[in-house]
Parts: sequence; structure tokens; C-alpha cells
Amino acid sequence: MDKIGVLTSGGDAPGMNAAIRAAVRRGISMGMDVYGIERGYEGLLDGEIKKMEWYHVGDILQRGGTILRTARSERFMKREWQEKAADILDTFGIKGLVVIGGDGSFRGGAALSRLGIRVMGVPGTIDNDLGYTDRTIGFDTAVNTVLSLISNIRDTSSAHERATIVEVMGRNCGDIALHAGLAGGADAILVPEEEPDINSLCRRVIKGQQSGKLHSIIVKAEGVNIGTEQLRKILQEKTGRETRTVVPGYIQRGGTPTGADRILASLTASRAAELLYNDEDSRAIGIAGGIITACPLEEAVEMKRAFDAELYRMAQVLS
Ligand code: F6P
Repeated sequence: MDKIGVLTSGGDAPGMNAAIRAAVRRGISMGMDVYGIERGYEGLLDGEIKKMEWYHVGDILQRGGTILRTARSERFMKREWQEKAADILDTFGIKGLVVIGGDGSFRGGAALSRLGIRVMGVPGTIDNDLGYTDRTIGFDTAVNTVLSLISNIRDTSSAHERATIVEVMGRNCGDIALHAGLAGGADAILVPEEEPDINSLCRRVIKGQQSGKLHSIIVKAEGVNIGTEQLRKILQEKTGRETRTVVPGYIQRGGTPTGADRILASLTASRAAELLYNDEDSRAIGIAGGIITACPLEEAVEMKRAFDAELYRMAQVLS
């Protein structure tokens, strides 16, 4: 293969730029032409495709967001537009694509793959919700962003003797809540994978109060089946402790990527470029037990993420 494209799609994640840089530079280093496709599948359908040179990806390794920009494309979900996208790639002579994104982006990639384009998925999402890989690019940064926030909240919560519910992202995956909650010493962690036990949560807060604890921090994933405001009211009423909520929202998606995310991005995206160079079938690149892996793309999109229930129990024991 001598011409490949690279795009970022879906919600952005810190480390996507590091992945773009790696795909472009590894591709060029092997003698391929690498094209940057702007605004994900939307830009592809609009023909926003430009040749990338080595220097185009200089000074981006440390930057959050994505220099190629990103989008969630409604059009691309339809077969007729997927065919159009394959035609556009054909016009440019691009036979392989590096797709940096999450579940929806990989499904789009799998559709293109069925139309004859070789697609390598690079896991770029803060959610860590892909079944085939231990980690996704951006997750580590998001967890650290939430951690620094928790430490600020702890100060003010203690000063006012309050309880605070921190609602974190992750759609239907509780990994950000679990990891930030464990590392941040939260009193309780609520995740969509486990039914919330509100009474036991209230007991925990009251027990902490009785033992002289000045604050209570509850980390709740956005996908938990009880609204954050509703939970705040219940908690305040049942515990008598003034309760506030904090929703960091998109703050979790921005910022400079951690070293771990930059390395994961660099290794997975360069592997993607190498596999395209070798004309391999479509794959999803990931990491398992510290080793970079490449699983058939169609299989990867069907894999459900296994929740680490053991880690969840341990977090509860330690809180
Ligand atoms: O996929 C990442 C994610 O941050 C989810 O955790 C969140 O639910 C979603 O994106 C929100 O994305 P947007 O508002 O950009 O569509």
C-alpha cells in the first residue's frame, strides 16, 4: 500500500494528536503518502482531504483536542453515504485508513472495510469502553483531570463539612468513575455496571460523619440510572449533610495528554500504519497486558467491555 488516510472521529480525547503524529510519521518513514481527513467521516464525505508532511504534525504531541478536528456523522450511518465515502477514497487512490476514535467510529470503519477499504482502528476515547483493549487513548488523562478536581473539592468540602457528588463522563462505562474514585479516595463510587444501593451510600456518609470526617466525596458515572440532582436531594435529606454536585463535563475531554496516553497513542497508531503498509486485513489496535495487539475489526466492535468488579469491591473496602 502506498497511500493511506488518517482521521479522528467521535468525541475527542487527549492523545489523539499524538496518534495522528505517529500514523503520519510512521507512514512517511515507510515511504507511504499519508493524507489527513478533516472532521472525521463528515469531512471525508465533503472531500476535506489533504496530504500531510512530516512537519505538519510537529509540536502537536503535547496538545489536547485533534488538529484534524472531529465530528459525529449522521450521514455516514447510511449505506449510500458509506459507498460515497469509499468512492471518494478511491478517487484519491487511498486504500487504507487509520481511524482514531471509539465504538461508533470503529463501526463506521467496519462498514468501509466491507466496501474494500482496509481500516485500522486506533482506540481514541476517554471512556475506556472498548472490549478488546485494556486501555483507550485519553482515559488516563481524563482520570488525572478528575483527580485534580477531587483534590480541590476535598478542600472546600472539608471547610464547609459538605458532601459532594462528582458526576464524571463515560457514557455507559464506569471506568473513569472507578479509577478516579479509587485513586481519589472517594467515599463511594457509583457506576452503571452495578445497581446503586442508595441506603448503603447514605449509611456510609453518616458513618463517616460520625467518625469525624469533614467531607464526603461521591464519584458517580453519568450513566448510572439515577439523576445526579435526584441523588443529591435524597442524600441531603437522609444524611442531614449539606450536599452539592459538580459536573466537570467537557473539561475531562481536554488538556495536555499524560505520558501514558502519549505512549499508547504513539505505539497503537504506528502499528496501524505498519499493518496498512503490509496490506493486512482491517484490525483494531489495542493493548493487553502491556503488549500491543491487533484484533480483527469486525470482532472488536462486537466485544463487550468486561467490568472489573474485583477492583470495584476493593475500592469499596478501602474507602
Ligand atoms: O465518548 C466520549 C464522551 O465523552 C462520553 O463520555 C459522553 O457521554 C459523550 O462523549 C458526550 O459527547 P458529545 O456531547 O460531544 O456528543
